[in-house]
Amino acid sequence: MNKNKITINHIQRMKINKEPISMVTAYDYSFAKLIESTQIPMILVGDSMGNTVMGFDSTIPVKINDIVRCTQAVKAGCPDKLIIADLPFLSYQIDFKNTLLNVKKLIQDGGADAVKLEGGKNVTEIVKRITDAGVPVMGHIGLTPQSVNQLGGYIVQGKTKDSEKILINDAIALEKSGAFSIVLELIPSELSKQITKSIEIPTIGIGAGINCDGQVQVLHDILGLNPNFTPKHSKMYANLSEIVIKALKNYDEDIKNNEFPNSTNSFFTHK
Ligand code: KIV
Repeated sequence: MNKNKITINHIQRMKINKEPISMVTAYDYSFAKLIESTQIPMILVGDSMGNTVMGFDSTIPVKINDIVRCTQAVKAGCPDKLIIADLPFLSYQIDFKNTLLNVKKLIQDGGADAVKLEGGKNVTEIVKRITDAGVPVMGHIGLTPQSVNQLGGYIVQGKTKDSEKILINDAIALEKSGAFSIVLELIPSELSKQITKSIEIPTIGIGAGINCDGQVQVLHDILGLNPNFTPKHSKMYANLSEIVIKALKNYDEDIKNNEFPNSTNSFFTHK
């Protein structure tokens, strides 16, 4: 293995050393290359590509081959990071043979280092069998976007005593099944603190407050690539949509004014 490669051991050591862990999503080569030049150790090729890249209103239409293609592109740009690829909706519920074939696609064809799947106690048998096959698994509890129709919307989870208990037990069950880390999405801060204290594997929050071992955000949200969507749990670190629109308008104007291409952008027979 490449000696600069981030592994799940690095990530687990970060929790022991109380070093906050950052993770960001990526779906293509160009952004992956930019992320490679940062200290962010983990990249998620998330099924959020359904919203950010494909323009669907949920992650439900995303298929395994969409994730495989994007994982290949991310891997090409980010060979040293720990790359986690999402198992999309219904790619791990049919039967174990089908699940393992999908995991094989993400690992062997896509080049992912680990996979992520949504669910708590209901997926522990699957998590155990995938990890038994030698593939690291990241869990994902709280708001699980693939179940948005069953949850009735993108709603904060774990707000009642009963649901708090269920989520704590889900996290403990995922750890026991072999998960190396768990995403906590849209849950109260106090609950993510309790979960983080209850397990030894790192918790990675999104909309789960400051008390997790790490944080994950959707790349398009933190870079301001979708000006019509600024979720409360995110923070815009750049307004790239403004910069891109301005550049495209300048390009269009230059063409209309016959200012592009000029002689420096052109080729000539005798030069
Ligand atoms: O697909 C995704 O981007 C995710 C994160 C929101 C955790 O699952």
